[in-house]
Amino acid sequence: MFFFLPSSLIAFLSVFASTFGVAPIDALAISPLSLARRQDSSLGDASSVLSTLDRRTVWNPRIEHPNAQTTWKSGTRVTVTWDTSSMPQNVSNSHGKVLLGYMTDSSESENLNTTHPLADGFLLTAGKVEVQVPQVPSRKDYIVVLLGDSGNHSPRFTIA
Ligand SMILES: *[C@@H]1O[C@H](CO)[C@@H](O)[C@H](O)[C@H]1NC(C)=O
Ligand SMILES: *[C@@H]1O[C@H](CO)[C@@H](O)[C@H](O)[C@H]1NC(C)=O
Repeated sequence: MFFFLPSSLIAFLSVFASTFGVAPIDALAISPLSLARRQDSSLGDASSVLSTLDRRTVWNPRIEHPNAQTTWKSGTRVTVTWDTSSMPQNVSNSHGKVLLGYMTDSSESENLNTTHPLADGFLLTAGKVEVQVPQVPSRKDYIVVLLGDSGNHSPRFTIA
């Protein structure tokens, strides 16, 4: 809504700036997008989830499945797989989490469902984890994100 009300956003930032003694130009560095994201606590993105984690040894395994050709059916069991060939010995978090999200063409947001991970607590060294496809609306722009040491996402795929 900030996009449609730029004058009220500026008014808000001016009040914010005078209240906290911040120069208006610093306050303006907070983008409307980041404000919008913060308002929706049920959806997140991998970078904000990761920024709260230890980043000592960052490893970004490539997700092999699902890929751009994948179609999952709600209620079925499927396997998420990733490439472990370049895994370092000392990753800072060897336990993984798989989150479902979606990415539209018009936004960078990954719209991750952080409250219901598809899988949690498995070993990243395994290179795969079986998950149940949830009952979700049909879309062609779903992604999965593999968290642990990494925060990379799969290509967009379909759940039908
Ligand atoms: C992980 O191992 C690499 C290579 O042995 C080393 O360069 C790096 O400092 C280690 N990182 C930590 C956090 O131990
Ligand atoms: C997250 O997933 C659960 C289980 O599929 C679902 O009930 C919930 O509505 C989802 N939340 C969001 C924000 O999509």
